[in-house]
Amino acid sequence: MDGALRAVDIKVKDGVILSIRPTAAVTPAKLWLLPGVIDDHVHFREPGLTDKADIESESRAAAAGGVTTVMDMPNVVPATTTPNALAEKRALYDKHCHVRYGLFYGITDDNIEEALRIPEEEICGYKVFLGSSTGGMLMNDMEKLKYLLSHTRKVVAIHSEDEDIIRRNREHFLRIHPGDDLGIMFHPMIRSTQACQKATMRALQAFEMVGGNLHICHVTTATELDMIRRVKQGKLPNNAHLTAEACVGHLWFSADDYKILGSLIKVNPAIKSLADRTALRHGLIDGTIDIVATDHAPHLLNEKKGGALKAASGMPSVQYSLLVMLEMMNHGILTLPDIIRLMCENPARRYKLWDRGAIREGMSADFVLVDPHAKTDVERSSILSKCGWSPWEDEMFHHKILTTWVQGVPVWQNS
Ligand code: NCD
Ligand code: ZN
Ligand code: ZN
Ligand code: ZN
Repeated sequence: MDGALRAVDIKVKDGVILSIRPTAAVTPAKLWLLPGVIDDHVHFREPGLTDKADIESESRAAAAGGVTTVMDMPNVVPATTTPNALAEKRALYDKHCHVRYGLFYGITDDNIEEALRIPEEEICGYKVFLGSSTGGMLMNDMEKLKYLLSHTRKVVAIHSEDEDIIRRNREHFLRIHPGDDLGIMFHPMIRSTQACQKATMRALQAFEMVGGNLHICHVTTATELDMIRRVKQGKLPNNAHLTAEACVGHLWFSADDYKILGSLIKVNPAIKSLADRTALRHGLIDGTIDIVATDHAPHLLNEKKGGALKAASGMPSVQYSLLVMLEMMNHGILTLPDIIRLMCENPARRYKLWDRGAIREGMSADFVLVDPHAKTDVERSSILSKCGWSPWEDEMFHHKILTTWVQGVPVWQNS
């Protein structure tokens, strides 16, 4: 309810929480039952990219990570930018997904009218790539963004990087260092702070004019946080609602980690400086960041070879996002109520999933049982994502996920 721990007995019937009663137990809680995590940003790669991942494998990894709802992005093959592709994807999800799900509909330069005709209940929101990332989807016309924002009540989630700045930076560094690739250290210089800042500024200006439900995905820089904070505090049109997302990779790693992990942590937008990471972590506490997600974006290890130009962008994270955040709690960066707010309550509210996000009578029995006294060793053999690797390999987390339930049914049980 408020992220506080209580000793209770919970009765569940037909997937719904029937009653919550205090128990007589007065000893400190041995195990924690938390609301299932709602991850509003995953790439499960199906259909079309199933050498990297598929709905079955990745939703099992999600369940093992305490995630009970995922929202999948449209950059698959065929892209989820047509009613047919959406129907095809839904059929695959209904068949293979171990957890609850929502689907984002991708916006292109010429599908907005058709996209707006999709019944609201069929999608969790629209996804707009203002700068192209994996998959090359792109729509960076601000007039069209305004049109979309003002014609839907759904969430409009944006990938916010400026395409022109990225291209100019890439050409600039290639002129200085001719060749077919650049070292990974160039990645945050190509996908620069300025690229993020400019795209986010334009999107915020569009939003301030027309309102709507803007959601900025994977925020990475201190300057964007300042802009978001200012817009949230300012005067907005009626029905205007702005939210910002931070992803576990950007919250955990910083540019210092390129030295050790190289292109494994190459992701768009790039992992930036330590100062940016500090600002992001601050944003979790002061309300600038509303939602913590993963941007779970698996690629095969051989696709992660090479540097700033050649390596694929994105990394798997859905199996470890809750453990990463709990580890950050142990490090004093945030509290358990913060984690519940950022990973359960706020995403539920943002996407109007009124039956989820908290443990309360009448809500769905979507739970994760955590042992706060056991450890999790991230070993390759325990990785469930099809790509078979993790940027957290060899990390030791000081919590263990024991069981995950979706609507009262166990979908993951740790042996
Ligand atoms: C994502 C992917 O691989 O699908 N890659 C990434 O670096 N984040 C796409 C995206 O979210 O930008
Ligand atoms: Zn993105
Ligand atoms: Zn993504
Ligand atoms: Zn630790």
